Amino acid sequence: MIIGSISENKDIEKRVSITPEIAKKYINLGFEINLSENYGKHLGFEEKEYTELGVKFISDDKKLVENSDIIIQMSLLDDNKATFLKSKQTLIGVLNLYENKSKLEGLAKKGVNLFSLELLPRITRAQSMDILSSQANLAGYKAVLESFSIFEKAIPMMMTAAGTISAAKVLVVGAGVAGLQAIATAKRMGAIVFATDVRITSKEQVESLGGKFLTVEGAENLETEGGYAKEASEEFKKKQEELLAETLKKIDIVICTALIPGKKAPLIITENMLKNMQPGSIIYDLAAVQGGNAAFTEVDKIIEKNGIKIMGERNILNKLPTSSSNLYAKNVFNFVSNLYDKENKKININLEDEIIAKTIIK
Ligand code: NAI
Repeated sequence: MIIGSISENKDIEKRVSITPEIAKKYINLGFEINLSENYGKHLGFEEKEYTELGVKFISDDKKLVENSDIIIQMSLLDDNKATFLKSKQTLIGVLNLYENKSKLEGLAKKGVNLFSLELLPRITRAQSMDILSSQANLAGYKAVLESFSIFEKAIPMMMTAAGTISAAKVLVVGAGVAGLQAIATAKRMGAIVFATDVRITSKEQVESLGGKFLTVEGAENLETEGGYAKEASEEFKKKQEELLAETLKKIDIVICTALIPGKKAPLIITENMLKNMQPGSIIYDLAAVQGGNAAFTEVDKIIEKNGIKIMGERNILNKLPTSSSNLYAKNVFNFVSNLYDKENKKININLEDEIIAKTIIK
């Protein structure tokens, strides 16, 4: 069986789905690997590294897609390249069902097997395939570095002969995967860290990382059975606003990570609350693409309001493409290994397997 992967549009996506390390694993499983020319060169993955393993490079993307049994990408192929896909082929990636519903329905009707990895269930067996966690973890880390790098004061407390610099205070909004890594990173750099979430279970996790959890008093635990957040009631939002408005008076940097699956991101740092923040403060909004947790967030811009910088990017992982590709490629390899019937050398779409049933798009 042939696995193919074509180069992404590098202006918007620098990650790759098949690293040399993972190409080797696919080849050991019995697959042949075909890639576009210059596939990973921008990340320092030279063609020689791949060809030494037996990977083939194909200059014509149409031929590459048409020859492949399985196509592995970061996201859905662009409209033109998606027309090359035919019945019985398998496409795996973050296909984004919410944004690409009609395109994906069209491909499914054509008989293409589609697997979208953002739909993976958060079960123990799927942990090694969990692209949301591997990528969110890196995003949380990088958001801290990005905001610290434009903050014009030092982060850790420093006692010097010339006087004392006090430690920066960071607020992390949303203590899921990205938020917990943001807390850990900010702590490691010497910041004092506060965090809040609608899920009460996250309190213990925040505290175990040395963060101070801000509890919205009297609020119900807004957690679904799957471990995700439920949308907050107006009463909860009001209480949360009061709590955060007071806290923000002393905060230097806010890292926003709050998301509700399938919905617009909740607006948490309102225009009114910004008035409580000191000039020079930074807000890094990781929820920017989903509409933002902060007022005034605009994708790929740094907005200045009353001396506060508010920033958020379409794809922060483009600033960490090598680490994020390494983890993504491993996640997908683990997914493919579960999908592949090694004895009969074919894809086995076993809908009794929760991992397969939840990720397939029909
Ligand atoms: P996410 O990216 O959907 O949301 C980020 C965080 O924002 C969540 O913690 C959520 O509770 C919080 N949030 C939403 N609305 C909020 C609001 N109005 N105010 C404050 N916070 C708000 O979530 P993520 O990071 O993907 O994690 C979701 C859950 O999945 C967590 O419980 C995590 O522990 C769990 N998980 C389980 C795994 C497994 O068992 N295999 C693997 C990874 C995560």
